[in-house]
Amino acid sequence: MKYLAMIATLVFASSAFAVDCVDCHEKINVEEHAEMEANIETCNDCHSFADAHELDADLHTPDLTITECADCHEL
Ligand code: HEC
Ligand code: HEC
Ligand code: HEC
Repeated sequence: MKYLAMIATLVFASSAFAVDCVDCHEKINVEEHAEMEANIETCNDCHSFADAHELDADLHTPDLTITECADCHEL
């Protein structure tokens, strides 16, 4: 029972917590990106971001900047 509860917690955690970009990507140069004033709307100017990732619009408003991503993600 205890074991099942632990599994349930892990499954819940993995769906509720934000992914770490560094799991799959090179570390994002946040300073450089902040200088470029990158936000969710402009990612696609330089990357095929929307092709690869579907963002939950409630959490990810278009004006959200790259420095704010770090509040929830390991960039
Ligand atoms: C589970 C693995 C995974 C995670 C975690 C992940 N990505 Fe990706 N991402 C991919 C794959 C696969 C692609 C498409 C292939 C590629 O271009 O590398 C992609 C593509 C991208 C692209 C477009 C790349 C390009 O050169 O056009 C951007 C930007 C991006 N991801 C940003 C992020 C950010 C920001 C995060 C963290 C919030 C993140 N990714 C987390 C797997 C991941
Ligand atoms: C003005 C162009 C520009 C904008 C806008 C921009 N980037 Fe980048 N990004 C770059 C460059 C240049 C690099 C470094 C070279 C490379 O690795 O492609 C880079 C690298 C990255 C990488 C790591 C490289 C990789 O493919 O693993 C990620 C992830 C990334 N950017 C995400 C984002 C996200 C998310 C946004 C929007 C919030 C964004 N970028 C906006 C130009 C841009
Ligand atoms: C308030 C917290 C929060 C902020 C700020 C935030 N995210 Fe997220 N993000 C999440 C959560 C939680 C998830 C996973 C659950 C979901 O998709 O609903 C997620 C998922 C993602 C994914 C994975 C989508 C997929 O399934 O492929 C990417 C990519 C991503 N976010 C990019 C960004 C970028 C880029 C920024 C900054 C411009 C950002 N996030 C800012 C909370 C946040």
